[in-house]
Amino acid sequence: MSSYRVRPVPGIAGEVTVPGDKSISHRALMFGAIASGTTHVSGFLEGEDCLATLRAVSNLGVSVARPGPGQVTVQGVGLGGFTAPQSALDMGNAGTAMRLFMGLLSAQAFDSTLVGDDSLMRRPMERVARPLREMGARIETHDGRPPVRISGGTRLRGIDYAMPVASAQVKSAILLAGLRAEGVTAVHEPAVTRDHTERMLQTFGCELVARSGTVTLRPPERLTAASVVVPGDFSSAAFFIVAACIGAREPFVIRGVGVNPTRTGLLEMLALMGADLRLLNHRSCGAEPVADIEVRPARLRGIAVPERLVPLAIDEFPAFFVAAACAEGETVVTGAEELRVKESDRIAVMAAGLSALGVANEVLADGLRIQGGPLGPGTVDSRGDHRIAMAFAVASLRALGPIEILDVANVATSFPGFAALARSVGLAIEECA
Ligand code: S3P
Repeated sequence: MSSYRVRPVPGIAGEVTVPGDKSISHRALMFGAIASGTTHVSGFLEGEDCLATLRAVSNLGVSVARPGPGQVTVQGVGLGGFTAPQSALDMGNAGTAMRLFMGLLSAQAFDSTLVGDDSLMRRPMERVARPLREMGARIETHDGRPPVRISGGTRLRGIDYAMPVASAQVKSAILLAGLRAEGVTAVHEPAVTRDHTERMLQTFGCELVARSGTVTLRPPERLTAASVVVPGDFSSAAFFIVAACIGAREPFVIRGVGVNPTRTGLLEMLALMGADLRLLNHRSCGAEPVADIEVRPARLRGIAVPERLVPLAIDEFPAFFVAAACAEGETVVTGAEELRVKESDRIAVMAAGLSALGVANEVLADGLRIQGGPLGPGTVDSRGDHRIAMAFAVASLRALGPIEILDVANVATSFPGFAALARSVGLAIEECA
C-alpha cells in the first residue's frame, strides 16, 4: 500500500499552478459526447476520475482523441447517439461520473450497468435514482448502492423536484435526464451548490433559467459543440491555500484558479479565521471566473463555521480541519453530515487522523469540533481518500515530527503530481511504494 512520509520544514515559498478542475473536466467530456459537432477541451484534468469518464464515453461509442497534454477532442454523437456498451461501465472512485451518467443513461435506448471501486460501491445512489424514477426511468440499486442497473427504452417526463439534500451531482443528473424528457424540468435546491452544469449547458447552447435556488430547463433540440478551457481546480488549490496560511515564508501565489462563487466558501471561512487572502488578475475561462490567489501567512483563530458556507466548501473540509488544528482556540463545523458520504466518512476519518496526531477533537453527528494546538508526529490512515491524504501532508508544516500517511494512491484521482508540486515549494514529502 503506498504512503507518504512527510517531515516538518521551516515553511513553503514560491508559486504553483494546480491541475484542471475535476467537476468541469467530467462535464466537458459528457456534454461534448452528447453535443452535435466536435468539442475541444484544454486544461483537462488527467486524473483517474476524469479518465474513468473518458473511458466510459468511449465505451458508449463516442470517439475521443487526446492530441496533447490536457487536450481532448470529442466527436459528439448527439443527444440520443450513444451505443450500448459491451460490459458494465467502471467509474472507479468517481462519484460525480456515476451520478451524472445515471442521468445521461436513463434516457437511452439500451440497458447499462454502472460499477466502481470499493469506496464508490459503498456510496448512496438512491438520492439520484429516486427523482429519475419519478421521471419514468427504470433504475435498480443494490441496497441503495451500486451496482446501478438502468433499463433503457423508456420515455422520460419533466419533473418539478425539490431536492432533500444540497447536491450538485443530484441536480446535474436530473438536468441531464431533463435534456431528453418530455416537458419542462425544474430542480429546487435547499442551498446553493456548484453551478458548473448550468453554466456549461448554456455554453453548449441550451437555454435554461437559474434563479432563486431553482433551475428550469426545457429540452433543447440539440446541444452544440463548444470549446472548453478548464480552469485550475479550486479544490486542489485549497491544499496550497491552507499550506500558505499556516506555513508560507513570504506571499505565496496559486495561479489560474477557478473562483466560481459556488466553490469558494473556504476563502470566506479562512478570512473569518483571520487569514490574509487576495484574489488578483480576475479573468474568465469561458463561462467560469478565474483568478490568481495570493496568500500571506497569518495567525488563525478558531471559529464556528456558518452553515450556509458548508455546501460552498463541501470538498475543502479535510484541508480546513487542518487549518482549524493549527488555529488558536476552538473551531466548530455543523450542518455537514454530507461529509459522511464522500470518498470516505470524512468526519470520522479526519477525526481519527487528528487524534493520531494528538489534536483534541469531538465528533458530532453533523460535523466536528477541533481544539487548535500542537500536532504530530504520528501515523494517519487516509482510508484511500485523496483529499484526506493531501490534507495531512499539509499538516506537516506545523508538525513537531514526521507524519506518515497511509493508503495515498487515490491522490491520482484528482491531483496527479501533487507530491512533486508540493516538494517544488518546499514540503518534504517522500512517496513510498
Ligand atoms: C461534485 C459535487 C459535490 C462534490 C463532488 C463533485 C460535482 O458532490 O463533493 O466532489 O462535480 O457535481 P455532491 O453533489 O454529492 O455534494
